[in-house]
Amino acid sequence: MMETTGFDDYEMLDAGNGRRLERFGEIILDRPAPQSLWPISLPLSEWNGAHAVYHRSGTGGGRWEIRKQVSDSWRIRWAGTVFNLKLTGFGHLGFFPEQTACWQWIRDHAVLTNGRCSVLNLFAYTGGSTVAAAKAGAEICHVDGSSGAIGWARENMAANGLQDHPVRWITDDVLKFARREVNRRRRYDGIILDPPAFGRGPKGQVWKMERDLPELLRIFSGLISDMPAFMLFTCHSVHLSAPGLSNMLSMLFENHEGSIRTGDLVIRPSHGKNLFPAGFYGCWSRKD
Ligand SMILES: C[S@@+](CC[C@H](N)C(=O)[O-])C[C@H]1O[C@@H](n2cnc3c(N)ncnc32)[C@H](O)[C@@H]1O
Repeated sequence: MMETTGFDDYEMLDAGNGRRLERFGEIILDRPAPQSLWPISLPLSEWNGAHAVYHRSGTGGGRWEIRKQVSDSWRIRWAGTVFNLKLTGFGHLGFFPEQTACWQWIRDHAVLTNGRCSVLNLFAYTGGSTVAAAKAGAEICHVDGSSGAIGWARENMAANGLQDHPVRWITDDVLKFARREVNRRRRYDGIILDPPAFGRGPKGQVWKMERDLPELLRIFSGLISDMPAFMLFTCHSVHLSAPGLSNMLSMLFENHEGSIRTGDLVIRPSHGKNLFPAGFYGCWSRKD
């Protein structure tokens, strides 16, 4: 299990009744969380103090109900790094708190004994993993289908003084780009991916996890270097499971010595006794 507990600038205050109440810096947000099937622990008066509440619509999108002033963008700190947060139309903030446990793992593993490590970060979103890999000293190829997400990731790198760090910024469909990288004979020492169940590339290319993941995994066997350092796969889709990830990683790394870990990503709320399920992960590393 990879567990995220609160830190100075983040706290899951409570979860339950299909919602999550969290503090990001000074800002408290109440958002949908279909996986929190238990009753809330804090009194409703605490929930009613949220700065903004996200309401999902029946047609897929949703909207923020702003109750107290929220800036267009604000910053939070985690483990010496800074992230720019914004309320998005999808109810996200550009920051998944459960990923902080993964970023720590990346910092510990994105290094090779020769001091160099080239990392491919796919579905890279606002770049939390890119910042973590850069902090470990790795060179990164950051791929996402959304130019907005790439711009946000660049802002996060700059906020951490990493604007000149070696990163290839690629706005492209993940499958299309990965196929081209194999043809160009590029190899990576580390691969990070956090694929959504469904997504789109910049030209509307559709990514469907259960349809497209097998091909992406086949491509990976041609992208892994001779001396790989790590692979980290996080996932939130009902079509996969931690044992499923373990099977894939053991196939992919059958000719390399290393170890596989899989488990749940969870957040520990500061009130109530229930851990909050936030997806799962599978990782392979050369180093234990
Ligand atoms: C980081 S994943 C979201 C994972 C998140 N944990 C979840 O399940 O909602 C979303 C990112 O993948 C990107 N994305 C989705 N489909 C894509 C595709 N076909 N090619 C490249 N990027 C894609 C999106 O632009 C977005 O930044």
